[in-house]
Amino acid sequence: MYVCVCNAVTERQIDQAVRAGATSLRHLRHQLGVSADCGRCARCAQDCLRVALCESPRPAPAAPPAHAGSSLSFALEAS
Ligand code: FES
Repeated sequence: MYVCVCNAVTERQIDQAVRAGATSLRHLRHQLGVSADCGRCARCAQDCLRVALCESPRPAPAAPPAHAGSSLSFALEAS
């Protein structure tokens, strides 16, 4: 389904943008041109974004830096 007629942006493209890291309408505007012209698609694009964010798998939390344990050990050893 076309979400933005002015820029021929589909719901699928919004899904793909979210999976690539887009989290806001501003991101979609920058990456795809959504809502950059007449703006009539903004509400629909926002709805698609919300759904895509809910369905998109979340990235795993980042692992702590490798040196985090060693500095703690150092702090414990120094006290
Ligand atoms: S329909 Fe998206 S900017 Fe016009």
